[in-house]
Amino acid sequence: MTITKLPSTHEGQRPEYPSGDLCRPAELIPGVDVSGMVDADNGLVDRAIFTDHRLYQQEQARVFAASWLFLGHADQLAKPGDFFTTFMGEDPVIVAKDKSGRIRAYLNSCRHRGARVLRADYGATRAFTCTYHGWSYDLEGTLTSVPNEDGYPQGEWDRAQWGLLEVAQLDTVLGLIFATWNPEAPPLLDQLGDMKWYMEAFLDRDSEGTTVVGGITKWVLKGNWKLAAEQFGTDWYHVNMSHASALMVLSPTGKGPKAEIADTRGRQYSDERGNGTGFPTHPKSRFDAQPVHEYYDYAALRKRLGDARAEGPMTTAHATVFPNFSYLPVNGSIRVWHPKGPDAMEVWAWTVLDRSMPEEVRNAQRLYNLRTFGPSGIFEQDDGENWSEIQAISHGWRTNTLPLNYQMGIGSERHDSDYPGSTSGLYSDSAGRRFYRRWAELMNTPAWHERGE
Ligand code: FES
Ligand SMILES: [Fe+2]
Repeated sequence: MTITKLPSTHEGQRPEYPSGDLCRPAELIPGVDVSGMVDADNGLVDRAIFTDHRLYQQEQARVFAASWLFLGHADQLAKPGDFFTTFMGEDPVIVAKDKSGRIRAYLNSCRHRGARVLRADYGATRAFTCTYHGWSYDLEGTLTSVPNEDGYPQGEWDRAQWGLLEVAQLDTVLGLIFATWNPEAPPLLDQLGDMKWYMEAFLDRDSEGTTVVGGITKWVLKGNWKLAAEQFGTDWYHVNMSHASALMVLSPTGKGPKAEIADTRGRQYSDERGNGTGFPTHPKSRFDAQPVHEYYDYAALRKRLGDARAEGPMTTAHATVFPNFSYLPVNGSIRVWHPKGPDAMEVWAWTVLDRSMPEEVRNAQRLYNLRTFGPSGIFEQDDGENWSEIQAISHGWRTNTLPLNYQMGIGSERHDSDYPGSTSGLYSDSAGRRFYRRWAELMNTPAWHERGE
């Protein structure tokens, strides 16, 4: 029998990969101009931005690919080889400590046929070994072992080209890990700007820093991720109505929202990078877990953080770091809204605590967080119900073509000497307008990977 060697089919046909790392630029279905859908000056937003599939794909490529995204808390990784898995937009990623102890993040997709390399939520390992055909990568993402490697074309096969794809930038701030695929993104601290001052009121109360307890609670909600992100950035307004029954239960005087929370004193910070946080500035609006409240030495905290941060920003605030990381200091909740198609999001929520907290206070805060903002929490259910309700009716022709109103507090933004950056009243859509303005800017700007340089 004669065996004839066939000519190599890929000779002379290798596609050009301009970035030199075997990644082609991700061409878009021509970008949709969203200028007519977000009128931030006049506070109008078109509902198609929550329902349209083309816009959703564009959002993955231009908003999620271009932005700094929250990955997790640094305490989830103690030593080299520790890892956890999460998502950046819809892309699965591995976050791990390499041999030198540096935190790295890689696309969790095998370079062979694309299977997830790691399927566990978290763990410790010496190598990332794919369970499909057994390609194995070290903690630095280098492809180190390929079963039957001699079957690959001798002389042409360059194993070094097939390592795990690493994020372009990764940084930590106040114990939180963020990363971006965008090599051109300004540093993380620039993206946060004055927002960091407000975050410190929650995450820098303790010279020992923060830690996370109780794992990550994960649940799926029907509703576009932006409905949750914008509410946490801009919406104190819904609290009295949506959460009336929950407030009644937690009311220190038993009189409920009218007595304790209807007071509108407070400020809302927003910036042109899409970040936002609001907080009441009168002590009646506090709903801490009692053991946590008793634990804090407020005089010492005033000294550490200053008077302006000692009430609202430190306790009963709401906040979103653009695009999809949010937090609530009062119950130590941090969460990320993972997009799962235009109509669904997956919520991942942690309980963050000061590292110096004794065990019983930690436990009180963890339980308080679950009771209020866990998946069946008395506040969480109210919010989720609103988002799912809006999403469910937004596909109709008539509903889909009616703009939504974000006009509260237009023109009320000012510089207040007590608070950095620009703030408006507590009841305001200022941060919402800036969230969507930033979203629209990114949607209308071809990202670095589309330029094919
Ligand atoms: S898909 Fe991972 S080894 Fe084949
Ligand atoms: Fe709410």
